[in-house]
Amino acid sequence: QKVDTFDLVIFGGTGDLALRKLLPALFHRYADGQIPAGSRIVGVAREPLDDAGYRAQLHESLAGNGADPAKLDAFLQQVFYRPLDARKDEGWDAFAALIGEQPEHVRVFYLSTSPELFEDICRRLGQCGLNGERSRVVLEKPIGRDLASANRINDAVGQVFAESQTYRIDHYLGKETVQNLLALRFGNALFEPLWNASHIDHVQITVAETLGLGRRAGYYDRAGALRDMVQNHLLQLLCMVAMEAPASLTPDAVRDEKLKVLRSLKRIDESNASQLTVRGQYRAGVAEGQSVPGYPDELNGAKSDTETFVALKAEIENWRWAGVPFYLRTGKRLPERVSEIVVAFKPVPHSIFGAGAGPLAQNRLVLRLQPDEGVKLWLTIKDPGPGGLRLRHVPLDMSFAEAFGVAQPDAYERLLLDVVRGNPTLFMRRDEVEAAWRWADPILAAWAASGEAPRPYASGSWGPSASVALIERDGRTWHEDSE
Ligand code: BG6
Repeated sequence: QKVDTFDLVIFGGTGDLALRKLLPALFHRYADGQIPAGSRIVGVAREPLDDAGYRAQLHESLAGNGADPAKLDAFLQQVFYRPLDARKDEGWDAFAALIGEQPEHVRVFYLSTSPELFEDICRRLGQCGLNGERSRVVLEKPIGRDLASANRINDAVGQVFAESQTYRIDHYLGKETVQNLLALRFGNALFEPLWNASHIDHVQITVAETLGLGRRAGYYDRAGALRDMVQNHLLQLLCMVAMEAPASLTPDAVRDEKLKVLRSLKRIDESNASQLTVRGQYRAGVAEGQSVPGYPDELNGAKSDTETFVALKAEIENWRWAGVPFYLRTGKRLPERVSEIVVAFKPVPHSIFGAGAGPLAQNRLVLRLQPDEGVKLWLTIKDPGPGGLRLRHVPLDMSFAEAFGVAQPDAYERLLLDVVRGNPTLFMRRDEVEAAWRWADPILAAWAASGEAPRPYASGSWGPSASVALIERDGRTWHEDSE
């Protein structure tokens, strides 16, 4: 699909997300010939850099990893930098003049800053007349820190940009496997008849990271895992698993269905949070073979009750899913980086195999988002060989890299170009964000009211033991991808 020539402005252009994800994504698209000639990428931040200084900084972070040096140099010629402080007057004229040089370009303003600055930036963009029809604004998550602040931000952005120009990004929706879930669910006759409470025992969604706080203390310590990961990424994954078939893939058809799921989530509040949720905070330990400090050490010993791990049991109160738990867990400094969705089916109603055949295991459909994206379907078969009939649990395994031999593009690569193309299907609509906060707020309130600190867990472990207890209490276990 054609991409128009564009200007993409990154507010927070020297920040972690810009350097780690956005600029590499743009460079990869450039190297693949997907960025039209004449397009410009403009970094904006407070640091007093010029174009050359910014290019040098990017060169350092983008070089290596097999980057073609000639292509990198050519890419950097399309990159510019303007220093400004969103809260001050200086710098805006020079910035507006640069953007004004190309009135025909699609304009994308990516707000990779603290949400507290969204309002100021949008107001200024409006004052500079940069909110015309060909302009779009991208809001990085989390939008606000609760429903009230999200509403304030959305109202302020809405004064300047129409909803159709507003792209609330959740980069998990750009991951290959997440979109593949649509293809699997709605492109195969096999799954949909079983995709309900009559046949599915439970669903697990795990997003585990080995990384710790990194250089994001300022943001993360105010957010915590529920706001940083669950309110957005994990809930969006849950929606993709649980939604009804949309009538089409048009942006609103898909988002209407996700919204219904969010609105059907069972409320978790002071009355049940202690049974349905577990929060943890990592301590020193070993991650990826290295000794690493604990969260409090990374904050230089400052006291913090911010959770770096959450496990919870969600339920969707609708006809399709009544009584099917969705166990979600996410955390930093866990033993491996793995994100997966596990759909566990109910057992067969009656076993015809004697005790000697071994136990009958559940069929499980495992969608691996990362690393090594792919799909596994765990089946029961007869153990091959001349012995008696013994059962064995084996996966039908499809690794996308092996099957297709190509590296999958990073989520941001797809999503950034979707914004330029004007396709919001994989972005969150305002009402979705609000519904997600409406569910998260009472959990946050319950935690605050309990006054309990998050449970400590050693770096390199799977979180507090209470997370295991949460699922084992229901007679289930967290999925381990082995026979
Ligand atoms: C971001 C969170 O949205 O997602 C980070 O703010 C987290 O805390 C990151 O590390 C994980 O993304 P990915 O694509 O590496 O799984």
